Amino acid sequence: MKVRHELDISMYETSFLERVIKTRMTALSIEDKDDYLLFLDKVPGESSEMIDLLSNSYSAFFRNTLTYSFLEHVILPALIGQKIKKNELEIRIWSAACASGQEAYSIAILLDEIVQRAKHPMACHIFATDINVDELHKAQRGVYQAAAVENVSLKRIRKYFTTQGYNFIVERSLEKYIDFSVFDLLSEQGNCPPASVYGNFDMVFCSNLLFYYRGEYRQRIIDKAGNCLAAGGFLITGETEREMVKENNYREVFHSSGIFQKR
Ligand SMILES: C[S@@+](CC[C@H](N)C(=O)[O-])C[C@H]1O[C@@H](n2cnc3c(N)ncnc32)[C@H](O)[C@@H]1O
Repeated sequence: MKVRHELDISMYETSFLERVIKTRMTALSIEDKDDYLLFLDKVPGESSEMIDLLSNSYSAFFRNTLTYSFLEHVILPALIGQKIKKNELEIRIWSAACASGQEAYSIAILLDEIVQRAKHPMACHIFATDINVDELHKAQRGVYQAAAVENVSLKRIRKYFTTQGYNFIVERSLEKYIDFSVFDLLSEQGNCPPASVYGNFDMVFCSNLLFYYRGEYRQRIIDKAGNCLAAGGFLITGETEREMVKENNYREVFHSSGIFQKR
């Protein structure tokens, strides 16, 4: 597969690979692994199917509810309060594997609400990157199916979305906060997304992608995110990925959330 598609599956965590293969075998009603390997080798298009499954880009608005709730009620108000005290009127956030944009728009909604309530001006910049260009195009279109907005309150749906048939379309006013661009977290092309120029982020979201990768690749991603964080900045992972960050130089901010503060 490496030769045919230039995808090095040795980077992936074995349990993730096994889960994906099992899902595919179930869908095809194939019970034996060797039979599936034969199928993968012989049937045109099957390796592309497998690549699509491995490039899992599932996402949803406010996906990890505890994490977003803690960000909304505790972390963001405190961060913005500190910035106002220091007369620093910019907040910089990196959504480092943004898929089709649900994470970046969720952050933009939280910031928009805070900015509208605040008595001080605050420039908010969200740099949203992903390795997958097709997902980034979807992010820029901002059109989602109902399943993606299941965790969004009715109040926010009314304020930040319009509906068209069964689709939910993100309010264009949120676009001013977000810059979408391609960036591979495992490339050698520097630590921070070029669009951000110098990084120095208050927060980096690195959520629901660490579990794909084997330890050494996972560590490279965690290091890259950490190098771009400002002192005291926050790293946000998926709630099931918390154990992967614990060995690093971070303090877990709230038990069970995926929020860590750089020491
Ligand atoms: C499951 S989605 C997670 C999306 C979002 N962060 C969330 O939590 O809902 C994982 C995303 O990671 C992206 N990804 C995987 N490897 C990457 C890499 N090396 N660099 C940048 N993005 C990557 C995939 O393209 C996919 O869109």
